[in-house]
Amino acid sequence: MNLPLEGIKVIDFTGVQAGPACTQLMAWFGADVLKVERLSGGDVTRRQLRDIPDVDALYFTQLNSNKKSLAVDTKTPEGKKIMEQLIREADVLVENFAPGAMDRMGFSWEHIQELNPTLIYGSVKGFNDQSPYSDLKVYENVAQCAGGAASTTGFWDGPPTVSAAALGDSNSGMHLAIGILTALIGRQKTGKGQKISVAMQDCVLNLCRVKLRDQLRLERVGYLEEYPQYPNGVFTDVVPRGGNAGGGGQPGWVLKCKGWEGDPNAYIYFTIQEQDWEQTCQALGKPEWITDPAYSTARARQPHIFEIFADIEKWLADKTKYEAIDKLRPYGVPCAPVLSMKEIAYDPALRASRTIVEVPHKQRGSYLTVGSPIKFSGFTPEITSSPLLGEHTGEVLAGLGYSPEQIARLREKKVLLKDGAADTHPEHNTLALASK
Ligand code: COA
Repeated sequence: MNLPLEGIKVIDFTGVQAGPACTQLMAWFGADVLKVERLSGGDVTRRQLRDIPDVDALYFTQLNSNKKSLAVDTKTPEGKKIMEQLIREADVLVENFAPGAMDRMGFSWEHIQELNPTLIYGSVKGFNDQSPYSDLKVYENVAQCAGGAASTTGFWDGPPTVSAAALGDSNSGMHLAIGILTALIGRQKTGKGQKISVAMQDCVLNLCRVKLRDQLRLERVGYLEEYPQYPNGVFTDVVPRGGNAGGGGQPGWVLKCKGWEGDPNAYIYFTIQEQDWEQTCQALGKPEWITDPAYSTARARQPHIFEIFADIEKWLADKTKYEAIDKLRPYGVPCAPVLSMKEIAYDPALRASRTIVEVPHKQRGSYLTVGSPIKFSGFTPEITSSPLLGEHTGEVLAGLGYSPEQIARLREKKVLLKDGAADTHPEHNTLALASK
């Protein structure tokens, strides 16, 4: 089957998570993605938090499926020439190096345009060019703090808190993918390439826009009625942390179920939807709440919303989270069990939908990963293995017209890595198996 991005050549000059997440998405949808990596260990995630000595870490395998790998020292004249040849033939180049690294390597945007004016160049940095922090290196949690997520996440009596979700990394990669696909469509009209820049701070903020909404509401009216601080607590002039409150105008909270004392995830998220209040009361066996003036409207309920949640927890006390959902479901209550990563990893439905997939791998046997969360009616993305470091070096160089003798010489000169050479440097096993 022809995949939508088949024929699109992508140079994946990325590392860690933000860039790799973007190019992995494009690879799933058919793009020919070539990961260009340094000789010494390649992408740092190959050896971060390894669970098997000298074998690519899950951090790498889960973000680099469906790609090829070329290990080349792009700082040598010969390596630079190879990179220039690749750029001339490519449709897209993606990088997320530290600020200035591409320029230092001799691949400024101006030079890239000279080499290939139709190339689409995607770049991730921590901060945008106008930021006073544009020269900083950035990782996930730095971006979450700078983008408004940390100051608005957690409980009011605790510190700013980062989310486990990769709001800075993978989210920025998804934004970049949207930008690249837009530029590819634009290029069909103009024939020209362009540079797409995304900053992790901006991408986090884009997901926190409802918190900016709340800042503006707070400045106008002085309080936020859907927050736990209303009406009895104190508001300052900044959006507070709201714990597990529902943010969209439907009050909600994480509620204990049977077994919560011993199971950290024996909880459900329970949402009170105004238009379904009557049904919700029926589900909870509290028909008297439907007409009681203290309960019958959202405004009346809000001052004692935590008493209501406490009453619902009494109803939940003899039900597991799954039993609770089964009882609430017929009444249309928006709710879900809090699922552990273990439950997710072995969830038959997530596997049936290929949102969780098992992928064969040359070193590991196989590995579990998150498949495409985007489902198409016309095709099903097939998730294939991540490449070993430099696995496709010979194939790629031959495609560029290099003879076997030339390739051997470049290997000798340490411009290229031996085909499929494993990284056996023990010092590269960062933080791996340290305490075993
Ligand atoms: N051959 C030779 N040199 C190579 C190479 C290759 N194939 N690939 C990379 N390098 C070099 C780079 O040119 C750079 O050299 P320089 O420092 O002399 O300019 C060096 O390797 C290291 O670059 P980088 O990968 O950026 O590593 P870092 O440890 O300095 O910084 C980050 C890591 C993630 C903090 C930084 O890349 C960053 O801030 N990126 C932007 C934001 C981002 O994406 N963050 C991570 C989100 S998951």
